[in-house]
Amino acid sequence: MSWTKTHLVGIEDLTRDELETIFRVTTAFKGILTRSVKKVPALRGKTVVNLFLEPSTRTRVAFEMASKRLSADVISISGSASSVIKGETLRDTALNIQALNADIIVIRHTAAGSPAYLSRFSKIPIINAGDGAHEHPTQALLDCFTMREHLGRNLKGRKVTILGDILFSRVARSNIRALTKLGAHVTVAGPSTLVPPTFERFGIRVSHDLKTALADADAVMLLRIQHERQSSTHFPSLGEYTSMFGLNKTRASWLKPDAMIMHPGPINRGVEIDSDLADSGRSVILQQVTNGIAARMAVLYLCSGGKPEALGETEDE
Ligand code: CP
Repeated sequence: MSWTKTHLVGIEDLTRDELETIFRVTTAFKGILTRSVKKVPALRGKTVVNLFLEPSTRTRVAFEMASKRLSADVISISGSASSVIKGETLRDTALNIQALNADIIVIRHTAAGSPAYLSRFSKIPIINAGDGAHEHPTQALLDCFTMREHLGRNLKGRKVTILGDILFSRVARSNIRALTKLGAHVTVAGPSTLVPPTFERFGIRVSHDLKTALADADAVMLLRIQHERQSSTHFPSLGEYTSMFGLNKTRASWLKPDAMIMHPGPINRGVEIDSDLADSGRSVILQQVTNGIAARMAVLYLCSGGKPEALGETEDE
């Protein structure tokens, strides 16, 4: 098992071995979360600051839970409650949090590259909780971990279709990077304005034919339309998007019977996915959310110097 990194800026920076290390540590922590005492002293005495300058429910709560399960103290700051709105630079905000003796900064920011920028001068770990349309590495880690639980630990040759607003999605970019490193075959699908052919440079398939894109998928991941990152209209109306690309009962029938239905959340019910399908037995959406705690425990643990070996046997070799 290998891990030498201090920061987690993106999946782009990780090797396949490092991904496997995170999954093994996630498995160990998931086991701990099933015990009656769901807590370990791994980060006792350390303080995690969640600097969320963009809205979040799942990621922020999961990082808070993960920090507490590792016995760290945790402080969460939102954009509207920080001195950023008084004109303070991101660099000064981070340096001040460091001067207050924080041990880890978890950052979500609208600007792509913000975590990478902080990691250039920060003396403490910087963890990316989503930066613009660039990357959302912990989302991809929990997504791949969830796929491994259903499809087996080796995702090589598995087929994953990501359907929706790919162009503005950091979740898509991080999952494409993680899945291709793990040997899976990725197809991105949706309207051509949101799924441009340039995505082929990732070594993946771009498809605008939904039937073909869904037919052989082991997992389909729906993405919402990210209006907050779009400055122009990419399709005539939400109703037309849903009628052409929403996952409904008919389109779900094109999937293999055991294909997993995934979504990083937040879901827009009745837009990218029918409500019945989101709540169906094929949906693993809430399991993804739950796995987000153990995956983030693994990242906090490893980036703060925790040794994977110290957790003992984590997965059958
Ligand atoms: N998946 C995800 O990032 O959700 P939040 O925006 O609620 O954190």
